[in-house]
Amino acid sequence: MHDSRCVLLIVSGGIAAYKTLDLIRRLREQGIAIHCIVTEAGARFVSPLSLAAISGAPVYQDLFSLQEETEMGHIRLARAVNLVAVVPATADLLAKMAHGLADDLASTTLLATNRPVLVAPAMNVHMWSHPATQANIAVLERRGVHRVGPTCGALACGEEGDGRMAEVSELLAVIDTLLSTSTEKKESSLIGRRALVTSGPTYEAIDPVRYISNRSSGRQGHAIAAALARHGAGVTLISGPTALSDPGRVRTIHVESACEMLAACQDVLPVDVAVCAAAVGDWRPVRVSQKKLKKRAGTLPQPILLANNPDIVAILSQPGSRRPALVIGFAAETESLLDNACRKRTAKGCDWIVANDVANNQVFGSERNTVHLITEDSVTCLRSMTKVEIAESLTERIAAVLRKKRD
Ligand code: C5P
Repeated sequence: MHDSRCVLLIVSGGIAAYKTLDLIRRLREQGIAIHCIVTEAGARFVSPLSLAAISGAPVYQDLFSLQEETEMGHIRLARAVNLVAVVPATADLLAKMAHGLADDLASTTLLATNRPVLVAPAMNVHMWSHPATQANIAVLERRGVHRVGPTCGALACGEEGDGRMAEVSELLAVIDTLLSTSTEKKESSLIGRRALVTSGPTYEAIDPVRYISNRSSGRQGHAIAAALARHGAGVTLISGPTALSDPGRVRTIHVESACEMLAACQDVLPVDVAVCAAAVGDWRPVRVSQKKLKKRAGTLPQPILLANNPDIVAILSQPGSRRPALVIGFAAETESLLDNACRKRTAKGCDWIVANDVANNQVFGSERNTVHLITEDSVTCLRSMTKVEIAESLTERIAAVLRKKRD
């Protein structure tokens, strides 16, 4: 379990259990590793196979499973993670937790853990308001268990009132906060710093339905925005169109074209650091047809003329009072990686270039990457890492440089 942030998700039996699949997907997008325990009742609402597929890890169900115990004993599992989250938490499991019962894998693990615990209760309104449940919750909160929800609304049983599980977006925000306080490293703090990150591709319109774009997924840029925010920076992410969710605690501005991205960047200045990870389209059609171009046999009646887009990283790097203390660009190259990347650093006037070799086409959309960090006086190869690890490593280096500039 080498992931820097890891959550053990305990799924107990309730209709809200289906929401855990979306929660897991979105946590993993933020680079958070997930291990799941599902109770017998939980497995009736969400299949362990779905949980395993979405979490990318084995799902634990049985207290006395020889195989599960060999892979990862439940005591180790309970203590190896950064957070234990019970989503949804039924009245029954909350009662077991309050009374220290340990008659299945979920309750045993909860008794064995020494990690922060979060519960997301979900149940019928009368079960929630019952004095027994309220007393159990009070005991748990006195012991330091964190709680999110329930909220008021329509319940699966057809009734209305308190008992609805908190929404996934709220769960994400609470989990993110709990994880940050348990992993934040003081020496790489960016509290009080402002950061700007560009991410994703751009869409350069040809007509109302067609555009020119590229294969960028936005994973690296989004991971960098999330890492900077985890270290305390106030982050604005300016993102081209991607399939990713907006990272938690990051102000995200959605744009389509390079010109919109540049305008949004200029609006955000001044910042301490600008990380330009977007794959900005180099060209845009000179004329955007207001009407959809008609398909016809043969070639188009007029060629699509392309104009150069503004180079955002070069513009941000221009000397002046609003220049960020640190401007970082990326270089995706298919040949002479380091030569081209070094030249790019000088041509654009930025401080660092993160160079990717994209010759084998395995970078776009993938989780891992090997990059070189090129500065004025050094070239460092970062070993093959996940994009989230690259984001973390880059963030620590950014924090170190900003600290030096302040000292
Ligand atoms: O020139 P090239 O596209 O290879 O440079 C890549 C770097 O420059 C990336 O950091 C990218 O975000 C940035 N860039 C930009 N504006 C452009 C083109 C690239 O900011 N128009």
